[in-house]
Amino acid sequence: MKKIEVCCGGTCLGRKSDEIFDYLQEEYKDTDTAVHMCSCLGRCKKGPNILVDETQVYHYSKNRTIKESIENNEGEQYNRYDNEEKLDLGSDFLGDL
Ligand code: FES
Repeated sequence: MKKIEVCCGGTCLGRKSDEIFDYLQEEYKDTDTAVHMCSCLGRCKKGPNILVDETQVYHYSKNRTIKESIENNEGEQYNRYDNEEKLDLGSDFLGDL
């Protein structure tokens, strides 16, 4: 079973991550993939962001749908608990707190 989390922190939501959430929920509704919302992933500048299986982060792209990107394993490595260097503190990350 795959787990997809769509960031609905302030920055990603401002970039319409709620529409991505709706899209992915519809696409995966009859599968064993669970689609949830989550809080800020600390990558605001690249958002809207989507986390898959807590290890791969995907950024919205106009070139492919998020679903195509996920199915092609095009995400970047992500560790929720070991990402101090990757946190996007220079932008509006703190605005989500
Ligand atoms: S609000 Fe989505 S990564 Fe920060």
